[in-house]
Amino acid sequence: MNPVALVQENFVIPKNIRKIVGASLALGAVLCLVDCGGSRSSRQTAQPMSGGSPATRTSSTAQARFTGFDEVIANHTVRMMKEGRDTFRHDTFGSEAFWGDTLGLHEAIEGSESKHLGGVSPKTALSVGLKVDADALPGELLVRIKSGLVNMDDPATTVALLKARAVVGVAGFFEEKGRLKSVGITCALCHSTVDDSFSAGIGRRLDGWANRDLNVGKIVSLAPNLDPIAAMLQTDVDKVKKVLESWGPGKYDAELDKDGKAVRPDGKSGATLLPPAFGLAGVNLHTYTGFGSVPYWNAYVATTQMHGKGVYRDERLKDAGRFPVAARTGSWNTRGDDDRVTPKLAALHFYQLSIPAPQPPAGSFEPAAFARGQILFEGKATCSTCHVPPLYTEPGSNLHAPAEIGIDDFQAERSPTKAYRTTPLRGLWSHQRGGFYHDGRFPTLAEVLEHYDRHLKLNLTDAEKKDLIQFLLGL
Ligand code: HEC
Ligand code: HEC
Repeated sequence: MNPVALVQENFVIPKNIRKIVGASLALGAVLCLVDCGGSRSSRQTAQPMSGGSPATRTSSTAQARFTGFDEVIANHTVRMMKEGRDTFRHDTFGSEAFWGDTLGLHEAIEGSESKHLGGVSPKTALSVGLKVDADALPGELLVRIKSGLVNMDDPATTVALLKARAVVGVAGFFEEKGRLKSVGITCALCHSTVDDSFSAGIGRRLDGWANRDLNVGKIVSLAPNLDPIAAMLQTDVDKVKKVLESWGPGKYDAELDKDGKAVRPDGKSGATLLPPAFGLAGVNLHTYTGFGSVPYWNAYVATTQMHGKGVYRDERLKDAGRFPVAARTGSWNTRGDDDRVTPKLAALHFYQLSIPAPQPPAGSFEPAAFARGQILFEGKATCSTCHVPPLYTEPGSNLHAPAEIGIDDFQAERSPTKAYRTTPLRGLWSHQRGGFYHDGRFPTLAEVLEHYDRHLKLNLTDAEKKDLIQFLLGL
């Protein structure tokens, strides 16, 4: 078996790409295919793992090129990619015990007469930003949807979509007779969208892209039982609902369960924008405030936000003054009884690092202005002192005091670092909805430029600001 076959075993590769790979048998090219192979167009449907252990899945061509430990590494790469992608897309880490069994979100989806729950139709689900993976649906069903023969106002259709594993980021659990018995969530919920190739909200998966349409607060507030969240925050359900409503589309508050600060001093919501989870390889600290590395944050999210069963520990959050909720509930030292997160961290990390930032579509920026903008970015505008190309964040420590970038310290103070992390800028064009900076305070790039011009006293002309915007859009 050659390396192409080795990869085909794990990924269904589109014919045109197969040809390219067929022409180039080096495993390097294969890695490029899974690493940088046109995330918007490639159709890589997960297949069941076959072929057993890496040792038994060796290929003769790979053997010719990779022998001994090199071959072990090459096979490991393929396996980590597959496992990590599966985890990112489908693993709930046991979070159905919280979202379904405890909060009853599945009842809200299916509907329940006795509980006066009308159910969630596909139309409603799409309207709160949930996405449907067209590749998970049988062709004949897609044809029927297109012809208007599927009732998109019926919650039963949503349940059918869940059964097909087609609702991005939401995993249904079913009784033997087919009734929905619980739901859990996956990483893809907030960090994936679809390309709308079938219709709005229905298309091929775009792993790692920020879903700025997703209204997390609205979805959570559908759950019939919000008492556990109220109890954690020592408040009442009405207040919890108000907080969830205050987030709006594209936002979530990943620190609320640590410090209980739902509202900023200016009265606005403490939620931050959902960031992309692509283009992160080479970047030191992660999150807007640099909590830690990718696997650090993955453990944080999987256990303390998604409510999966796992282990997460950070003594920095034991501080009752700064993180009263974490200190009281003990979530700074979460110990799930049945650890379903830690065994997944390695492959999940690997997969995330292999998601490239997407290239801007042709014609979406002006190349001559981009070139002028680049000179300004690296020169007069001093942007590249912090956004160091080609990572567009600092190698080494990428943290800054709030005053350095001229903003308030509310969100920085919610992190152990008390700082803001220089955002890696590649793929910026794909997450413009919701604005810029951690809370979307600058609705447009023009406003970001005005801010820097003022704060860093750059004396940029209007033409220079426009060129810088074209540069940012072309990254
Ligand atoms: C409910 C929505 C939601 C879910 C589900 C979610 N995240 Fe996030 N993620 C966020 C938000 C919001 C942030 C920003 C948090 C901050 O900066 O305080 C974030 C930040 C990140 C970052 C940092 C990105 C950067 O620029 O450094 C990574 C990596 C990440 N998430 C990966 C994951 C993984 C892996 C999972 C699944 C285990 C996951 N997320 C599940 C909302 C979510
Ligand atoms: C002192 C370091 C520093 C300098 C200089 C700097 N930035 Fe930033 N930049 C940051 C930090 C830190 C953030 C994160 C702010 C936040 O999320 O609140 C950021 C965020 C951004 C964002 C928002 C990204 C997003 O996803 O929301 C853009 C765009 C940006 N910078 C562009 C620029 C440009 C253009 C320049 C030059 C005019 C520049 N930066 C100069 C540190 C810097």
